[in-house]
Amino acid sequence: MIFTVLTLFPDIFQSPLQASIIKKASDKELIRFNIIDIRDFAGDVHKTCDDKPYGGGPGMVMKIEPIYRAMEFVETTYGRPRYVLLTPQGRPFDQATAERYGRLAHICLVCGRYEGVDERVIDCVDEEVSIGDYVLSGGEIPALVLIDAISRIIPGVVGNEGSVVDESFKEPLLEYPQYTRPEAFMGMEVPPVLLSGNHEEIRRWRRKEAIRKTLLKRPDLMNRFTPTEEDGRFIREIMEEIPG
Ligand code: ADE
Repeated sequence: MIFTVLTLFPDIFQSPLQASIIKKASDKELIRFNIIDIRDFAGDVHKTCDDKPYGGGPGMVMKIEPIYRAMEFVETTYGRPRYVLLTPQGRPFDQATAERYGRLAHICLVCGRYEGVDERVIDCVDEEVSIGDYVLSGGEIPALVLIDAISRIIPGVVGNEGSVVDESFKEPLLEYPQYTRPEAFMGMEVPPVLLSGNHEEIRRWRRKEAIRKTLLKRPDLMNRFTPTEEDGRFIREIMEEIPG
């Protein structure tokens, strides 16, 4: 899969894309990055990429021409990708969106900066995506968030050589608690069931604790959860175990 990024700050991408899982995946050529500096497509000697807003007001607005020319370059070099603009006004990014993007051959992440981009840029992209209801200085860190989430589900990237697991069809439960050595640390002990070697008991414990975690930390996720008969029993037990 190709990730093209259009940005005014290509340096931001250097280190995060050269570490860990992403680095290994690009070494294996499972993913590939084109980090494109929008400034290279500015038309004037000063390489101007922003300007004052029409109608007045504070701040600067990213100009359309350099972005449009960068998009033309991308298309003549690689064909048309799916264009996604990172902006706080976009649709919230989630695992289902990551799965959908993971099936694309080429995605182009357009990073906005400053107070915003010329509204006509929005007409040129396919989608607008936000990583949460807070305002960052630009779309670069959100683009890295998307790259990480999408890369992990590409077969072979995280040892998932089989087909891509579609998280949107998976249960919306949080992960069960995990422990590793030592068995006891500062009086905090590993639950004895995990040391028992009884696989069925371990399975049941993990299932119940995943449900407990979700109920306590992310009760909103339970709306999408269809419990089995066993899960229903666990839920009742957990409720009875809650003090007060
Ligand atoms: N640019 C600035 N803030 C953002 C956010 N929360 N999500 C995506 N892009 C952004």
